[in-house]
Amino acid sequence: MRITVRLAVSLVLAAAGVSSAWTYSQARRERRLLTQELDRRGTILTETLRELAVPLAARGDDAGLARMAGRLARREKPRAVAIFGKDGRAAASAGALDGLLAPPPTADPEPRCAASAGPPAARVCTAPLPDGGAVSVVYDAAPIDARVRELWTHGFWRLLVQSLLIVAITLWIVRWDLLAPLDQMAAWMRQLSAEGPASAPPTSTLLRPLASEAVRLAKRLGEARAAAEEEARLRHQGQSTWTAERLKEHARDRLQGRPIFVVANREPYLHVRRGGKIEVLQPASGLVTGVEPILRACGGTWVAHGAGDADREVVDALDRVRVPPEEPLYELKRVWLTKEEEDGYYFGFSNEGLWPLCHIAHARPSFRAEDWRQYQAANRKFAEALLSEIEGVPEPAVLIQDYHFALLPRMIKEARPDARVSLFWHIPWPNPEAFGICPWQRDILDGMLGADVLGFHIQNHCNNFLETVDRTLESRIDWERFSVRRAGHETLVRPYPISVAPSEATGKPPSKADLLKEAGATGSIVALGVDRIDYTKGIAERLLAVERFLEKNPAYLGRFVFVELGAPSRTTIPRYRELGEEVAREADRINARFGTRSWKPVVLQIGQHARREVERWYRAADVCLVTSLHDGMNLVAKEFVASAREEPGVLILSRFTGAARELRDALIVNPYDIERTAGALLEAVEMEPAERERRWSSMREVIREHNIYRWGARLIDDLARVRPGSASSAPQAEAR
Ligand code: F6P
Repeated sequence: MRITVRLAVSLVLAAAGVSSAWTYSQARRERRLLTQELDRRGTILTETLRELAVPLAARGDDAGLARMAGRLARREKPRAVAIFGKDGRAAASAGALDGLLAPPPTADPEPRCAASAGPPAARVCTAPLPDGGAVSVVYDAAPIDARVRELWTHGFWRLLVQSLLIVAITLWIVRWDLLAPLDQMAAWMRQLSAEGPASAPPTSTLLRPLASEAVRLAKRLGEARAAAEEEARLRHQGQSTWTAERLKEHARDRLQGRPIFVVANREPYLHVRRGGKIEVLQPASGLVTGVEPILRACGGTWVAHGAGDADREVVDALDRVRVPPEEPLYELKRVWLTKEEEDGYYFGFSNEGLWPLCHIAHARPSFRAEDWRQYQAANRKFAEALLSEIEGVPEPAVLIQDYHFALLPRMIKEARPDARVSLFWHIPWPNPEAFGICPWQRDILDGMLGADVLGFHIQNHCNNFLETVDRTLESRIDWERFSVRRAGHETLVRPYPISVAPSEATGKPPSKADLLKEAGATGSIVALGVDRIDYTKGIAERLLAVERFLEKNPAYLGRFVFVELGAPSRTTIPRYRELGEEVAREADRINARFGTRSWKPVVLQIGQHARREVERWYRAADVCLVTSLHDGMNLVAKEFVASAREEPGVLILSRFTGAARELRDALIVNPYDIERTAGALLEAVEMEPAERERRWSSMREVIREHNIYRWGARLIDDLARVRPGSASSAPQAEAR
């Protein structure tokens, strides 16, 4: 309340000051104008009086002077007129002279007006007569004082009304626009600190910035609380789970404070122009899902291709921007590629050559000499960008990602033997015969073996790689240590099954009904698919399994709905475009076959879905379907299991994913076997609650323990053991 009083008093004082100054100047002006008017009239009458008095005075006609003075006084209504002789006595007068004296003699013939000496207030105009006498006219000045008083009185009342209004408005604004929103905010923040951001923040524009800061703070507190609880739980159990905090400390300790540099083709944040504004997108990418939490936790630099159409607008002179935009934690360094470079290196060699080569998904790889040239050039370009970033940093830890950069480890190591370099291959590695069809296999293997640590998702891919090296290059393979020694340099080849960070979603999960309504769908049992639209993901096979399930189980018609969140990917490659069309055609066909006016079994949501949006579906769906024909790991499966659900869900998982090795309590399927996958769908929707719970908690435990922070810690451990710059730079073998 004190602030209300202070505000009101200040406003009233300010208004009083302004109003008084204004009234004062108005009163002065009014007094001046009225006095001028009175003097003008006095001057005219004085001149008239003098003209008439001169002949009469010359004749000594005092009676005539008295008549004339009386006539003028009656006609012009001054308070008094007087004609003085040269001896200073009044020769004639009319009206109340009130002690008026003859003016002192003057040589100036012009009439002069002045205020009378005493009350009553009057203006006296005088003019000299040629014989040494004078004439005077007296006008009453009391109306001028009355007018000025009236102005002050009006001013006072106006100020009073203004003050009352100011007080009322101040009270109103403080009450409704300040105190009420503050009360709401306080109640909301109380709830926030107790339950997390369960309800929407108050809508007051004044407090909106505060609300978003509070949400961030609450999130941080929530995370800290969860981490503390988790730590306590683990201490109690005598174990220790990896968290972002723990990884941060661990990395600092193992790398002795040296920074981390990630190189990946895909950037974690794209800046794009939408309707004149710059927006930030997170791409649909398992790589980003997996690696970003590491940089968030440890800080460092991510070097990537700047692919957003507004990317150049937000970087500094060194092509860097700090991310995440809402809470900058690390540097994103953008590398610019020409269209030819992108076509040859990314679409061509990486995604029409290496991608189908490494996945057994029956798509023929295409290897073109021009693409290979661009691939080499792009690897050199990224090498230069990274080398400029690590200049002056002793023994930097470099984490190269994926098949786009097979040549990069060698390039970096040659320029900076002291760098600790790892390459993580996010896709499968085929058998030596399959890899052998690549015309540049020797260069690729040699480039990769520049790394100190080479990672795959699973042991099988490591074995395939070592066999490929064995058959292709002159080198020594140590099958005990799983390492390759070539030209005096040793590369450790290890499985590091990638994973996800624990979900950060809080509050109540969205309801299925709400999500389906938003998607324009109906149903009561939701099966979910989340993919980049890629032929390795088995999306068409999944649709056939849904069709077969409905065919065999008509009881689910009208109740079951399959929702596919599909992100278009690599669409300049014909095979990807055709796949997009094929998926849409199949969905239409199945909908035409089973759908009714109010229900359709397949809902395709094609577009770039924000992480938050995907998480909402993970939390609400009953079943998640991952039917990849071949997949290094598949983080959709792990994200679903890690999502912040209240009820257990069921995961149907292709046996051809890396994730199937860890998530053994999923319903494991062969996606080529449509009949069995349809059977797994029936098993999923009819699973007994107890069984559902058992499988779910066992999978949750796996993901909790084998999370992305553990992945990062293992990789960093092995990198830290490298003896950089020495002939034998491999980490020491370690029992796991
Ligand atoms: O799965 C292999 C992979 O390169 C991932 O690492 C990444 O998430 C995904 O493909 C995305 O591909 P792109 O970057 O071509 O969109």
